[in-house]
Amino acid sequence: MDLQLYWLMTKDEFIKFEEIALERTFIAIKPDGVQRGLVGEIIQRFERKGFTLVSLKFMKVSRELAEKHYDVHRDRPFFAGLVEFITSAPIVAMVWEGDGVVAASRKIIGATNPLAAEPGTIRGDFAINIGRNLIHGSDAIETAQREIALWFTEEELVSWQPHLSPWLHE
Ligand code: RTP
Ligand code: MG
Repeated sequence: MDLQLYWLMTKDEFIKFEEIALERTFIAIKPDGVQRGLVGEIIQRFERKGFTLVSLKFMKVSRELAEKHYDVHRDRPFFAGLVEFITSAPIVAMVWEGDGVVAASRKIIGATNPLAAEPGTIRGDFAINIGRNLIHGSDAIETAQREIALWFTEEELVSWQPHLSPWLHE
């Protein structure tokens, strides 16, 4: 941001600016993450990094929603199994916010194939199979916007100002 503009802003204008400017991503803990009791562990990694939780819900996914979410993979051989799996047990759907959150979340999550994922990533630490890789994260800003709109209503997205902000940004 232009430094002069920054100093000319009132506090309310600045908060509004942050709301407009901040990046958001869609994260889902898949059925294997829930069944294996990794919900707290996974959420903690995003919290500790410093990202802001904007929404969270625990839910069974309908076939219709699963097919829409994975529409880009409709013609792939694993599509039917993927939809079957994602609808088989509850998941945790979330929106996280922060500068660079889309790309950073993909790093926190790790490579699609958990055997290729680096130690220290969620998939690298806790998974061994591509069909049981625990978590989904949007792969680009435009994808994130599409996925957030698909999974959440506008009212479910909570804009708030974490008190930690000055300790996370200079
Ligand atoms: P995700 O969308 O779940 O965050 O995963 P991703 O971007 O790392 O991987 P993507 O290519 O979008 O694939 C979506 C999910 O489909 C399953 N998959 N199975 N059997 C296979 O070859 C195969 N390839 C992909 C994985 O569960 C992957 O996360
Ligand atoms: Mg993907």
